[in-house]
Amino acid sequence: MSELNLVLLGPPGSGKGTQGERLQEDFHLPYYATGDILRAAVRDETELGREAKEYMDRGDLVPDEVIVGVIGERIAQHEAADGFILDGFPRTTPQAEALDSKMGELGRELTAALLIDVTDDEVVRRLGGRRTCVKNGHVFHVEFDPPKNEGICDVCGARLEVRDDDKPDVIRHRLATYHEKTEPLIARYEEAGILRRIDGSLTPDEVGDRIRAMLATRRMEEEL
Ligand code: AP5
Repeated sequence: MSELNLVLLGPPGSGKGTQGERLQEDFHLPYYATGDILRAAVRDETELGREAKEYMDRGDLVPDEVIVGVIGERIAQHEAADGFILDGFPRTTPQAEALDSKMGELGRELTAALLIDVTDDEVVRRLGGRRTCVKNGHVFHVEFDPPKNEGICDVCGARLEVRDDDKPDVIRHRLATYHEKTEPLIARYEEAGILRRIDGSLTPDEVGDRIRAMLATRRMEEEL
């Protein structure tokens, strides 16, 4: 079986984390979500967390040089030898260039960039109702994906909270940052022939089914 090196692209709140967890379960691949990595670093008060916190609270991106090394190290690990799922990276052209160069160094290529497409209005609706597990970052939604017991994570039993950057003014700023800095990557991956668009306005199950179907088709094409 060939490697599966996946990038999840899409605006804040499009469902990257929701689908990333499912892909991780389906394919047993390491899942590297830069937002989760940075939030854990902030919680643990590491140097990375101290550097990242003020940017994250404002809804700005942390500087490229801070995050590029973090991901470069992870994809070079033995656990990622059969593939990986990147969520939230790359998010700028310099990050995409750094990823290409790291992959080249490792003699590998990205398999697909999965763009989960939703409108800005839908983003605002989703992030307003998101609840996140304080321990492991599992995500729920008060309306679309409620936990079995209110305020408690179904997976690990930890408390659920509203993320600091899910306040309305910060959400708007994150969206503007996405349009300015991350959207140009869509054309980049389209030109490279690896962009796959998924309608993110469907239910989480439907979005998951479409991603699986897309990856299965790609596998079949490879085997022909
Ligand atoms: P990060 O945590 O990556 O935030 P994000 O990209 O803005 O994405 P989100 O986690 O907000 O949303 P998501 O797409 O994962 O959606 P989710 O599945 O939760 O980054 C946070 C910050 O870290 C950044 O602002 C930046 O400061 C910093 N950072 C991270 N990476 C960086 C990088 N590479 N460079 C620089 N800085 C970086 O879903 C949202 C809600 O909708 C949930 O409640 C969910 O239950 C619900 N939902 C999901 N799918 C559906 C559906 N199909 N229908 C209805 N509801 C749904």
